Amino acid sequence: MLHERIPNLAKFVEADRVRREVYTDASIFEMEMERIHERVWIYCGHETQVPKAGDYYTTQIGRQPMLMVRGKDGKVNVLYNRCPHRGSMMCGDRSGNAGEFFRCSYHSWTFHHDGKLRAIPMMESGYAGTRWTRDNPDCNMKRAARVENYRGFVFASLAAEGPGLLEFLGRSKVAFDDICDRSPEGEVEIVPNCFRVIQHSNWKIFLENQLDALHPSVTHQSTGRAAREVELEIEKRTGKIPLSYHMLSAFSTVTIEKWDNFQTLNYPYGHCILTGYMGLRPQDPDTLEYERVLAKAYGEKRKEEILTTNIHHVLIYPGLSVQSPLQQLRAVRPLGVDKTLTEIWHFRLKGAPEPIYRRALAYYNLVNSPSTMINADDLENFWKAHQGLSSDGGDWVSFHRHYGRDAEKDGIVETAPNCGTSEAPMRNQMKAWTQYMAAGK
Ligand code: FES
Ligand SMILES: [Fe+2]
Repeated sequence: MLHERIPNLAKFVEADRVRREVYTDASIFEMEMERIHERVWIYCGHETQVPKAGDYYTTQIGRQPMLMVRGKDGKVNVLYNRCPHRGSMMCGDRSGNAGEFFRCSYHSWTFHHDGKLRAIPMMESGYAGTRWTRDNPDCNMKRAARVENYRGFVFASLAAEGPGLLEFLGRSKVAFDDICDRSPEGEVEIVPNCFRVIQHSNWKIFLENQLDALHPSVTHQSTGRAAREVELEIEKRTGKIPLSYHMLSAFSTVTIEKWDNFQTLNYPYGHCILTGYMGLRPQDPDTLEYERVLAKAYGEKRKEEILTTNIHHVLIYPGLSVQSPLQQLRAVRPLGVDKTLTEIWHFRLKGAPEPIYRRALAYYNLVNSPSTMINADDLENFWKAHQGLSSDGGDWVSFHRHYGRDAEKDGIVETAPNCGTSEAPMRNQMKAWTQYMAAGK
């Protein structure tokens, strides 16, 4: 057993620092998959990825290849992508439509969309007298132990026991409320397809970076400065600054001191919110039209509440990073101790005017996509961090910034005023990590 080889996990994590093996040891990675990713609620996808009966989309939970599939009853099921006969993967394509039922390409066993066995060729003659009978549950495609959907966002847990999805999400569910409420219809639609990026670093390095308010004005400064120069030239020529340039130039104009004005709210299970409204309410005709549509749908007061929701970023541990004001989501799928896949998605607000969607698309392309320098800046950091941690140059990772100044109330850790660059989110993630790892199987 792994825990016999790693007898004392507690020695790897202290409140303000973590040993480097936590990021580089393959046995610890296996244990994380078993005790964290394959137990907690993991985001599978959005229900609009599978709009029609038989539509499926493959995904991954921990080390398990999974399928999200829409049944004829409209329900979204999450199944292991595996045939119970001799183990062949059921769907080799990333997505598609299974038709009336799944049919394994190896020996033609067929299954309903909920995973139940439909037929085995010549079952009567082939299996008479064996224990392979129709009522044997092993004949079905295995289902995720639990599946829940919150406002169209589908999660699954591979463990039968544990908190329900809403209890698990706690206050971090605001990520989905904020995304959906910004739609006049209260719903969003996923925009196919996503960008997929494989980074050569441990999955925790990505998550720690998401609410690392210390890094943007350093790591992304050169990108921000270049954008600022062009922006000023455009302004000189046309008298206007395009909003898309502002998304990039902000990385040079928002300095470290300004980032300290933001605040993080750290919740149980490792979730965290970075506040600091992104201020995307210019008074141009497109925004004004959007606000009019929103006010018509919700009334003036509610519209104002929705548009002033103070969120920059929500991290849902251990696999999701959401920027709700711009309808962006990144799902983290660990592939190995030093290899991590991120899926970068964005959404369309149903019923909102097209220019508002173009704004989300601009942010998606300019800030989150692999073709932007912002993403390249981060990827370089991730790789360099993993390289450094793989060396004997030191044993510890430091999370000391603003340590001791956090204020804890009712299980929620708030960073103190002017401590937006605190490493409290990393400490909170490692606290959850330690609890999950200690809970074991
Ligand atoms: S492995 Fe699927 S039918 Fe044989
Ligand atoms: Fe970054």
